[in-house]
Amino acid sequence: MNTKPGALFLKAETFLNTCYHELEITDRLASRREEVKKEIAASGSYFQTVEELTHGARMAWRNSNRCIGRLYWKTLKVIDSRHCSTDNEIFEALDHHVDYAFNKGDIRSAITVFRQQMPGEAEGPRILNHQLVRFAGHKQTDGSVIGDPSEVEFTRWCRDRGHSFEHTPFDMLPHVIQWPGRAAAMKLFSPPEGMIIPIVHPDFEWFEALNIYWYAVPIISEMMLEIGGICYTAAPFNGWYMGTEIGSRNFGDENRYDLLPVVARKIGLDTSNDHTLWKDRALVELNRAVLFSYHLKGITMSSHHEKSEQFIQFELSEQRRGRKITADWMWITPPMSASATKVFHKNYDNTVVTPNFFYQDSVIGKPRDEPIQGCPFHSNSLKENL
Ligand code: ARG
Repeated sequence: MNTKPGALFLKAETFLNTCYHELEITDRLASRREEVKKEIAASGSYFQTVEELTHGARMAWRNSNRCIGRLYWKTLKVIDSRHCSTDNEIFEALDHHVDYAFNKGDIRSAITVFRQQMPGEAEGPRILNHQLVRFAGHKQTDGSVIGDPSEVEFTRWCRDRGHSFEHTPFDMLPHVIQWPGRAAAMKLFSPPEGMIIPIVHPDFEWFEALNIYWYAVPIISEMMLEIGGICYTAAPFNGWYMGTEIGSRNFGDENRYDLLPVVARKIGLDTSNDHTLWKDRALVELNRAVLFSYHLKGITMSSHHEKSEQFIQFELSEQRRGRKITADWMWITPPMSASATKVFHKNYDNTVVTPNFFYQDSVIGKPRDEPIQGCPFHSNSLKENL
């Protein structure tokens, strides 16, 4: 790995500087910097304080260019689970995250941080699920899929290792973890009561009979959180849903549940010609159903109009603090009625700053003897890190 000498300390120093300034604890900055320097010299890495971890994780959310919900970055609950080491402790921490975040529908943003990747480890601890709550996808011999096509590989992986599914379009996936030096471990997951929401429509009674469901909270569990050069390769986090994520993308995309033709036909739209805008009309009804169903059950949910207003507020509040925001326009712009939201009419700088969340190579589908992408700031030579 081409880690430049001192890369880790430089990263650490930059982070500590910003963090201690933002928290207004600069009186402790110089001594902390020295402490970290010594720790890196001796061990090749360093451990962050709870304060650093907490603020660092919040900064990572604040810096997430693709997230439209960042106005609330300061409210992120950071659950320090770095002490968890046995598979049981880890599975329990995952269950706790789901319960804490769901909170009977009054959703709370949270991140559970497991131990960091250590120097010399080719792979850090990993959660193999894409999200902690997710439906399986079963590929049929004719190539069609029952369930969520985006989960076909992971579903197969679980089935090959002994998990049995019911084969409905909404089978719950088990939790799978893999900690360094241990085989992957799998555990059944049953969501708390009320977590799975039946999708109904405010006007169309027939909608209920489509038997469509979605879950209350998206908890991304496969990304790496990087703070000050430290890589937390297992750090599941959640916000709450914006309706279009489900109504337009999860239900509407052709390579997902592909429900536009189903809904259009039930409404009785003319699908023979693009100019009838049948896809657009079906999208609107699907999205209305999603927003309506979540409200009906008292589950926190935002519309794309609310979220884009909040994003403008986020920009203003960051500006007031003398910070410039970065954002990925392609992701911030909602996948329905984009031009009716303010964010569509703006330009954003898509520079990636840290702390942040990063994609990591998937463990699924890779031969185990092929190393996956590790932490870029660690090398196996202690000297190189100074
Ligand atoms: N778009 C993803 C999904 O539909 C979830 C991504 C995170 N979303 C969020 N609102 N925090 O499952």
